[in-house]
Amino acid sequence: MKVLLFGAGGQVGWELQRSLSPLGAVQALDHQAGDLEATVVPLINDTRPDIIVNAAAYTAVDKAEVEPERALRINAGAVGEMAQAAASLGALLVHYSTDYVFDGSGVGAYRESDATGPLSVYGRTKLAGEEAIRASGCRHLIFRTSWVYALRGKNFAHTILKRARSQDRLQVVDDTFGVPASAELIADTTALVVHRLLDVPAADQADLCGTYHLVPAGETTWHGYATFLIETARSLGMPIRVAPRCCRILAIRGGLLGELVNKLATVRRGAVSGSWQLRAEA
Ligand SMILES: NC(=O)c1ccc[n+]([C@@H]2O[C@H](COP(=O)([O-])OP(=O)(O)OC[C@H]3O[C@@H](n4cnc5c(N)ncnc54)[C@H](OP(=O)(O)O)[C@@H]3O)[C@@H](O)[C@H]2O)c1
Repeated sequence: MKVLLFGAGGQVGWELQRSLSPLGAVQALDHQAGDLEATVVPLINDTRPDIIVNAAAYTAVDKAEVEPERALRINAGAVGEMAQAAASLGALLVHYSTDYVFDGSGVGAYRESDATGPLSVYGRTKLAGEEAIRASGCRHLIFRTSWVYALRGKNFAHTILKRARSQDRLQVVDDTFGVPASAELIADTTALVVHRLLDVPAADQADLCGTYHLVPAGETTWHGYATFLIETARSLGMPIRVAPRCCRILAIRGGLLGELVNKLATVRRGAVSGSWQLRAEA
């Protein structure tokens, strides 16, 4: 089994290098080796992978507002090319998307079938990437996730803990809800689902392909998340300057991903569950 991984240097891509390796030979391309601003088709056709995993993306949400064309090329144009190439080769395409495809006005957790309505350039380009995959007809898994954190890379958790060491007070908004998701959880779930999917007879795989929300259970606000991080760091004896009472983490929600996991009968539910707080504390 040949796996071609784009975005190997990112938070999720880095963890995928480890989690995908039991599936077969993984060719891992970082930004330089697999630049989505250039055409990706020759790279794919040279490798002729069985599985293409795309963890590369233009993820600078604010900067995308002033670089919309670049964000569109990376998040949608290149993704469409990958999907067309996957369809021609009969390869499976695994791709990641975001809660930014929604407008945020809903109450409670979004379902996969809920209407999209991105409000930002980043959200619109990520939705265009999803649509290009669906239009290509390739076998695909699109995992929408949110608030990714990892030991490696830039993320909210690193920023808050750095500031909490040097500032007396922190101001963090509490009107935006989301679910912190570890890159490790995303990568492990990806590998498990792909492994089980490939065990299913080819004729039945199409029914299982599609778009899934991949986040742990629960939800929090940026303020709740920051408070959790600071309190956990303090309890672990890390030097924290910010005053007490400033944050918490998450488990995979049921939803369609839960159903997929159940359909792939040999996968234990527990393999993709656990609260975000437990995972973050680890
Ligand atoms: N981060 C989040 O909170 C979050 C939330 C929801 C969904 N997602 C989605 O989850 C996926 C993985 O995100 P992540 O957190 O792992 O992002 P990340 O850490 O920002 O990694 C993205 C990777 O893509 C690379 N990249 C950027 N432009 C590229 C290009 N033109 N060609 C090739 N590679 C390029 C980046 O390289 P450089 O560092 O060199 O630019 C980086 O290694 C993405 O699809 C993202 O949209 C992320």
